[in-house]
Amino acid sequence: MNSSLSVIPPGPVTARPGAALAGEITAPGDKSISHRALMFGALAVGETAIHGLLEGEDVHRTAAAMRALGADVTRGDDGTWRVRGRGIGGLSEPQDVLDMGNSGTSARLLMGILATLPFTCFLTGDASLRKRPMGRVATPLERFGARITARGRADGKILLPLAITGTAEPVPIAYTLPVASAQVKSAILLAGLGTPGETTVIERAATRDHTELMLRHFGATVRTAPADGGGTAITVTGLPELQGRTVGVPADPSSAAFPLVAALLIRGSRVTVRNVGLNPRRAGLYDTLREMGADITVSRPHTEAGEPVGDITAVAGELRGVEVPPERAPTMIDEYPILAVAAAFAKGDTKMRGLSELRVKESDRLSAIAHGLKACGVEVFVDGDDLIVRGQGGRPAGLADAAPIPTHLDHRIAMSFLVMGLAAQKPVSVDDATPIDTSFPGFLPLMRGLGADITTSASL
Ligand code: S3P
Repeated sequence: MNSSLSVIPPGPVTARPGAALAGEITAPGDKSISHRALMFGALAVGETAIHGLLEGEDVHRTAAAMRALGADVTRGDDGTWRVRGRGIGGLSEPQDVLDMGNSGTSARLLMGILATLPFTCFLTGDASLRKRPMGRVATPLERFGARITARGRADGKILLPLAITGTAEPVPIAYTLPVASAQVKSAILLAGLGTPGETTVIERAATRDHTELMLRHFGATVRTAPADGGGTAITVTGLPELQGRTVGVPADPSSAAFPLVAALLIRGSRVTVRNVGLNPRRAGLYDTLREMGADITVSRPHTEAGEPVGDITAVAGELRGVEVPPERAPTMIDEYPILAVAAAFAKGDTKMRGLSELRVKESDRLSAIAHGLKACGVEVFVDGDDLIVRGQGGRPAGLADAAPIPTHLDHRIAMSFLVMGLAAQKPVSVDDATPIDTSFPGFLPLMRGLGADITTSASL
């Protein structure tokens, strides 16, 4: 299941302040796009070839689930993944429970696919995923006619493990998202694919649109129009014949953020990450960093499989605190941990508003960020759903020999605090960096190649 680059041993990992970072690197493929390429390939007829797929644990979970449902998924020696799909409605009942590991995207999008397949499937996940809310997906899917039996239902929650029985006679729905979530939107659109007629999702806040862009690439009809009451109505026409396609996966802007922010914070650094996805619905971190005064430039802009892509260069310099409005949250929802680390080095307060969704990510990120920053000597306040970081206009103390920061099975908390350790006055350790393999296999060697001093218990 693990990628060949899964080299992080269990136990603490320590990042130490040191030399400037320099170099030009390729970050791993976009996680959101990778999941979708495998899933849509499985729902298409013919062959889908995927270049640059993220070979991280989360995406391996999706690949395994698609195989268990009858799609033929293989990896060639040249790194190209090929999916021979079964067509919409052609997937078959798996023989075993599908374990989605740490991956919310795998679990929620898969539920959308399963909602209109007439058999029962059992889903579970790791200790982090089993705490995350599935009701947000189950509620609209039950309106299509799917049946879901889940842990926690008696308490008004829906948690993994769960059993989902798809309906043979789905009815199309129109549904307004109660939370800004691309995973929920995508689950509904995928259920809409298996449903005759038109299914509409209304989103008041614009979330990442990889599903819409890639479904069109595979030949589905997806229309968008302004919604009554604000936002966008996205309508998919059911039962299309999706055609296998070639997908080039750009580097993940959410992963590129770690080496790029490290470069901004460590004096004398200059780092370029090649071929990064520049979809405006994922660009909130980069917009915010520029407002903070960061020297971030884009070169070689071009398009791949409907997605804008380019090289991003970050050069170290001083940052100032800013206010990040709640409307921006969906465009940088995974980037608050690393932004909070950058904010600790900026001059003045950075106020990040409207972060309720951070509480239901791989960990409760609001509390994990606040705990970690405090341990590193940074003043931080959580006020309702707002996070305020008091920037010191210089390097925070770091941890030195204090207890490692708990990562709570959260890859982005682990990477963010390792970046803190590279730039703070004293080293920073995290208690468990193994979850980094879910999204960024090869993080440690890649950072070391730029000049970072990061050691695991095995390398001591
Ligand atoms: C994702 C959507 C976001 C994001 C996650 C990936 C996706 O989750 O946090 O890492 O691929 O659609 P939400 O939809 O829950 O906000």
